[in-house]
Amino acid sequence: MTVPALDADAVRALAPPTLFSLEGKVAIVTGAAGGLGRWLAAGLGAAGASVLATDLDAQGLDELDAALTGAGVRCATVVVDLGDEDAPERIVASAVERLGGVHVLVNNAAVNKRMPILEMDRDSWDWITRIDLRLPYFLSQAAARRMIDQGGGGAIVSISSLNVLLALEQISVYGPAKAGLSQLTKVMALEWAEHGIRANAIAPGFMDTPLAAPIWDDDDMRRWIFNRVPVERPGLPRELVGACLLLASAAGSFLTGQTLHVDGGASAGGRWFHPDR
Ligand SMILES: NC(=O)c1ccc[n+]([C@@H]2O[C@H](COP(=O)([O-])OP(=O)(O)OC[C@H]3O[C@@H](n4cnc5c(N)ncnc54)[C@H](O)[C@@H]3O)[C@@H](O)[C@H]2O)c1
Repeated sequence: MTVPALDADAVRALAPPTLFSLEGKVAIVTGAAGGLGRWLAAGLGAAGASVLATDLDAQGLDELDAALTGAGVRCATVVVDLGDEDAPERIVASAVERLGGVHVLVNNAAVNKRMPILEMDRDSWDWITRIDLRLPYFLSQAAARRMIDQGGGGAIVSISSLNVLLALEQISVYGPAKAGLSQLTKVMALEWAEHGIRANAIAPGFMDTPLAAPIWDDDDMRRWIFNRVPVERPGLPRELVGACLLLASAAGSFLTGQTLHVDGGASAGGRWFHPDR
């Protein structure tokens, strides 16, 4: 492989609109009606991708569709319960039929239930691991099969969690499932590199989403988090978009098998306790 000359065309190709472009690509986003998913879908669309947005929440998908379409993004929505056995095949088929293919998959949807291990029941364990690990496994498999048939490679971006490094009490199923998702990311990277498919994960820290509102409304919880997070504020959903575009586009062409922590420094370590924070 020879390094190309650094001529005027090579310089222009480094401009962000070119380097991060997803023009002509089709991106699937699961949980696209959710607090983070809608911003990830919007970011992919703003970079030029056609977006297949899927969720259980039909009204949320309609709102997303209106916002994206209004911004000139080509968007299709499909209501699917990710717990259904045929969900992976239905989602990939929708992307192919309605938008023409699959180039990017964002495994974003997840569920959680806080409960001490001693009280955990098997139905909850099965539900969390089914949505948070089993579904991304088989949806990635279905998407990769399509990407291989198409040729030209692809990118899989899975939304993991700070929980893969930092265990939190009462999160004994979601955390291990996310750790599994980050580990799965490495294996997908190894097995599919020969097909030009890259697999990476984003591990968000404490984010400001509707789901997390009760945490931010609780003074004690907020103070605990601010003592743990160097930037001393929650992350905003749009602050994950840059990382997602990096991993989904040619800008990240040498990145695979990684979990990128986007957490305001939370995984960097711990500062000394400060009672005024
Ligand atoms: N919010 C945070 O602070 C935070 C932190 C770290 C990681 N994450 C991760 O980010 C991702 C998005 O989280 P969020 O905060 O936007 O959550 P959210 O609950 O707002 O969104 C999740 C979406 O998934 C959908 N969904 C759930 N079960 C489904 C099913 N069976 N079938 C189809 N759709 C289903 C929901 O309808 C919802 O729209 C998740 O993977 C989560 O683990 C979030």
